[in-house]
Amino acid sequence: MENIRQPSEPDRNLAMELVRATEVAALGAARWMGRGQKEAADQAAVDGLRTMLGTVAMDGIVVIGEGEKDEAPMLYIGEQVGNGSDPKVDIAVDPVEGTTLVANGMPNALALVALAERGSMYYPPHIAYMEKIATGPQAAHAIDIERSVTENLERVAKAKHMEVRDLTVVILSRPRHEAIVAEIRKAGARIRFISDGDVAGALMSTIEGTGVDLLLGIGGSPEAVITACALKSIGGNMQCRLWPRNEQEWDVVKEHGMDTRKVLELNDLVSSDNVFFVATGITDGELLSGVRYSEDSVSTESLVMRSKSGTVRRVHAEHRLTKLQQYAAVEFD
Ligand code: FBP
Repeated sequence: MENIRQPSEPDRNLAMELVRATEVAALGAARWMGRGQKEAADQAAVDGLRTMLGTVAMDGIVVIGEGEKDEAPMLYIGEQVGNGSDPKVDIAVDPVEGTTLVANGMPNALALVALAERGSMYYPPHIAYMEKIATGPQAAHAIDIERSVTENLERVAKAKHMEVRDLTVVILSRPRHEAIVAEIRKAGARIRFISDGDVAGALMSTIEGTGVDLLLGIGGSPEAVITACALKSIGGNMQCRLWPRNEQEWDVVKEHGMDTRKVLELNDLVSSDNVFFVATGITDGELLSGVRYSEDSVSTESLVMRSKSGTVRRVHAEHRLTKLQQYAAVEFD
């Protein structure tokens, strides 16, 4: 596998450049907060993100994007992004993780980009969902997706020197989770339901101070790959399994001889150890402040991570839109 480091240049932290792109995506989407139009929020974020990614010195291929080429005019899977110079990288983008959260003015909507060495990101082969379990560093080795929910709760509690009744599990509020929810309740743990955004949910389970210990449930496959990039950088662990949702997807499984019992570990989801992950808050949440407007500036907050160094930065930025409007290629309103 090609090394991202170029011998002739200092070891760049690409995440520091990518954060400008997620900031612009968040600034675009944030104007649509609570306005009930999730497509408009997504489009504004996509426009900004794509323009800014074009300025980054890299030869990127979108592995996780807005969809297949015929359905997504921009940031489609397979699209080349960046200015075309080395390094060669895989890119995962989620310009708005939680489009409904933005449309309804709810917490934890994020603009996300992850980047890793070329060929190292898993491409979810037309199976929309995965089963997921994720937790932070303290209980990283305790989780086991092949064990029952109850056993996992007991193991996580033990690893964190807590009782099961003190644990908080974050889970998407969906009918498909009825059995898991019943088991969590029977075991006595607490539940934090989220209406969308399981990347934020997984991050909450790994970051101290959010009050969340574990993510369980079935969520998007692309989001699983992006989450894996973040967890490689910030620590913690996640395991997943493909979860075909209908006959059509079961046909895909059979056709390609896939094994839905196979446990996908972090390394299966992103094999590189040189991974970059950036998230900017669109709406306020436990992880990040959202975009906030004041008389003469707009603020953003971002998480900027790099797996190789393990550095996690929180970047608070004040944007002067009137100045940016004078020269930037992106339209700031
Ligand atoms: P968006 O595509 O609207 O941003 O959806 C985000 C999300 O909530 C993910 O966080 C999650 O993995 C997935 O959708 C769940 O899918 P579904 O809403 O179909 O249950």
